[in-house]
Amino acid sequence: MSQDYIHFIDKVHRKTGVDLSQYKEAQMKRRLTSLREKRGHHDFKSYFNALEKDALLLEELLDRMTINVSEFYRNRKRFEVLEHKVIPYLHHQKQKLRIWSAACSTGEEPYTLAMILNRYMPLDQVEILATDLDLNALKKAEEGLYHERSLKEVAPDILRKYFRKEGSFYRVRDDIRKSVTFKKHNLLADRYQKGFDLIVCRNVMIYFTEEAKQKMYKNFNHSLVDGGIFFVGSTEQIFSPQTYGFEVYDTFFYRKWQKKETGNAF
Ligand SMILES: C[S@@+](CC[C@H](N)C(=O)[O-])C[C@H]1O[C@@H](n2cnc3c(N)ncnc32)[C@H](O)[C@@H]1O
Repeated sequence: MSQDYIHFIDKVHRKTGVDLSQYKEAQMKRRLTSLREKRGHHDFKSYFNALEKDALLLEELLDRMTINVSEFYRNRKRFEVLEHKVIPYLHHQKQKLRIWSAACSTGEEPYTLAMILNRYMPLDQVEILATDLDLNALKKAEEGLYHERSLKEVAPDILRKYFRKEGSFYRVRDDIRKSVTFKKHNLLADRYQKGFDLIVCRNVMIYFTEEAKQKMYKNFNHSLVDGGIFFVGSTEQIFSPQTYGFEVYDTFFYRKWQKKETGNAF
C-alpha cells in the first residue's frame, strides 16, 4: 500500500470514524482512486485537503464506499426458506421475535422481513431493528417510497397488500413501516446489541477483509439468543462456522449452538 493511501485512510478514519483498512483493499482503492481522479486530484493528500474544506465532497466519498444497492425479497428462494422453515422454527419457540437487519441500506430488507413475519403474527409481536452506516440510506428507508425496479421480486398479492402506488413509485404500508426502527450503526466500530432471535446481514460482508469478517461473525454470534439464526447473503457462505459458534441450519442460514443441546462453551 502506498504511503499516500495509508495516510489518507488514517485521516478519513479520524474524521469520520470509518476505518477503510477493514474493507478489501483492491476494490476500495480502485473506487476511491477513480473518484479522486474525477475530482481532479493527483494524489490522496490533495484530495483529503479538499475533503476537509467541502462537506459535499466528503459526503460523495462516503456515498461511494457504501454501496446501497438493494431490493425487496433479494434472492427470492432464500426468503422462501426464511418464510417456510426459519420463521416457523423461531415462532414455535417464542411468540415475540426480535430481529436485526444489519446494513439494511434503503430499507427493502427489513420491510421484506416485516411482510414475511406478518404472515405468522401481528406486527406488534415483532421488533425489527434495521441499521446502516449511511444516514442518507436510512433517511430513504424511513420514507418507504420505492421505484418499481426494487419490487421486481415481490409477488402480486404482497404488492397489493402492502404497497400503495404513488405516481411511478410505491409506498410501503404504514403499519409495516412503523414495525421497523432505523438507527445508524457501524458494524466495524459500534457495540452490538444482544438478544436477537434472527440477524440478517447480507451483501456487505463481501466488502470486508477476512479479519474484519471473523470479528463480525463472533459479534453476531454473541448478539443472538441460543438457537437464534444468522442469515447471510448468497455469496457470503461462512467457512467453518463452528469456529464462531454456529452450525449450518440451511444454505446461507446458520444457527447459534444451544448450550443445553451440545454442551458447547459458546
Ligand atoms: C449492498 S447494501 C446491502 C443491503 C441489504 N442488506 C441487501 O442485501 O440488499 C450494503 C450496505 O452496507 C452498508 N455498510 C457498508 N459498510 C458498513 C459498516 N461498516 N457498517 C454498517 N453498514 C455498512 C452500506 O451503507 C450499504 O447500505
